Amino acid sequence: MEPIVLYYTLMGETKNAAMAIATGLGTEAVAVYSLKPSDIERLKKCDIVVFGCGSYFGMPPERALEFVDLLPRGEGRKAAVFCVGWIIIGGALDALAKRLADRGYTVVAKRSKKRFFSPVSREDKGLIGFGRKLREGV
Ligand SMILES: Cc1cc2nc3c(=O)[nH]c(=O)nc-3n(C[C@H](O)[C@H](O)[C@H](O)COP(=O)(O)O)c2cc1C
Repeated sequence: MEPIVLYYTLMGETKNAAMAIATGLGTEAVAVYSLKPSDIERLKKCDIVVFGCGSYFGMPPERALEFVDLLPRGEGRKAAVFCVGWIIIGGALDALAKRLADRGYTVVAKRSKKRFFSPVSREDKGLIGFGRKLREGV
């Protein structure tokens, strides 16, 4: 299995969440804005792309959605989405999932991570478990 975790973060919390999910999946977490042309070739071979961002005013940042449009077309390959936020996260998750579906990915799982005063732990058990489940093919 060739998975990858991509994230778009403004304040660093989605990176922490991405690293926990990547631990469970047995892969690495990569910022979408640091992808190189060689990474794009690798993305074409990935059988699951996990994409995450923060929730801002109940939505993903527009730039995060624009990066989805720059991914290779999914052609039915699997994707999963995750969003980090204080309280209103569902709309952001759905919008991110829709953008990936529009790009041709089959979205198989969504996960939100609430945080308010505390940062997201890179050892978050729930997020590591989410990554493990994806690896098992859920
Ligand atoms: C201007 C602003 C708007 C926000 N709007 C929401 C929101 O609508 N719902 C929510 O759950 N969290 C909201 N948050 C909290 C962020 O989603 C949260 O800080 C998250 O960890 C950001 O992820 P990032 O650090 O990866 O960008 C907002 C934060 C800021 C600064």
